[in-house]
Amino acid sequence: EMFCRLHRSVLRQAQLLRGVSRSTALPRRACATFRTHEQCLELHYGGTQMHFNYVWLRDHCLSAASYNSKTNQRNLDTGSIDLTIRPESTRVEEDHLVITWPGGHMSRYSLSWLAENSFERKYQSTEQPRILWNSDIYKNANITSSKWDTFMSCDDELKKFLQNYLLYGIAFIDDVPTTVEATEAVTQRVSLIRETTYGRMWCFTSDFSRGDTAYSQLALDRHTDTSYFQEPCGIQVFHCLKHEGTGGRTLLVDGFYAAEKLRQSSPESFELLAQVPVKHDYIENTDRHQNHITGIGPLLNVYPWNNEMYLIRYNNYDRSVLNTISHDVVQRWYAAHRELTTELRRPENELWVKLTPGKVVFIDNWRVLHGRESFTGSRQLCGCYLTRDDVLSAARCFGLQA
Ligand SMILES: [Fe+2]
Repeated sequence: EMFCRLHRSVLRQAQLLRGVSRSTALPRRACATFRTHEQCLELHYGGTQMHFNYVWLRDHCLSAASYNSKTNQRNLDTGSIDLTIRPESTRVEEDHLVITWPGGHMSRYSLSWLAENSFERKYQSTEQPRILWNSDIYKNANITSSKWDTFMSCDDELKKFLQNYLLYGIAFIDDVPTTVEATEAVTQRVSLIRETTYGRMWCFTSDFSRGDTAYSQLALDRHTDTSYFQEPCGIQVFHCLKHEGTGGRTLLVDGFYAAEKLRQSSPESFELLAQVPVKHDYIENTDRHQNHITGIGPLLNVYPWNNEMYLIRYNNYDRSVLNTISHDVVQRWYAAHRELTTELRRPENELWVKLTPGKVVFIDNWRVLHGRESFTGSRQLCGCYLTRDDVLSAARCFGLQA
């Protein structure tokens, strides 16, 4: 809400400024200059210098012949563009760059569209705004949980929930009826459920029904789930339906906060963990379940164009044989892994939450690690995974940057 208010006041200021300039001066034309070089078109607009490749410009033509603006799909066959194409003529007309190509086809690009979609703008901006946290930062932010009733009926509440989720990587809903069905309903209010070998909705007690430590009463160290998937599950949902006993608090750690600390203190270690692909395995061989799932990827994953982190894979239980690097690099990798582990284990980075019946937590499994302390008594937990693409899509449809 603070962001909205801030944004609105900035907008209002901008409107006021524009109003003032209109009364005292002529309406301002967007000022743009360009130069056509042999290899690219150089454009100066809005204080940014940008460079556009000619094939790129032809490929991104938004004319009706090249692009279907109803379906937002390209009509043009990129395979038919001459790779040495150059404009016949170029000009700036009002707020557009207008190019005439050999053969007469004309492309018009709005200057703001070019600026927004330029590499120069892209590599300076983040894909997803986030607030990285340790325990104090998260607690001081005073994020309120959603309530079942309003969450299920009010779109603004869902939007607020998604905004919290995007910024912090965790979000809570209270007063959810303590059934698998209600947990499923609350999940589907957000997006699609991802079915895995554990089922669509899973529900278990500590009965060792599956060949995995999760199905015991033991403590579980911080980890991300399904790191053995080539694409780990995007979102984890937990709902403790019943617990008669002690212990069993849930541990949450912002993996990106820890990794950014590592990037600051030891950039080479960060780099190594972002480059070395590591194998994770899930091997299960019981009477009822047979699985061998393998995923290979670095522990830290960053977008190559802006170095923004988008995925941490950290599960020491499921990490498999390390044979993707030679013995001398292995030593440096273990040192880097230790530094990351140290950051992840700092007590001030640990957020401990007691998931009482009725409290559902959504966890960004690409960012926030979870664990639990050991417990006594019978504890019934249910939950599921969500597909990341669909959750982010739901957020974007609310106008959120995701
Ligand atoms: Fe887990």
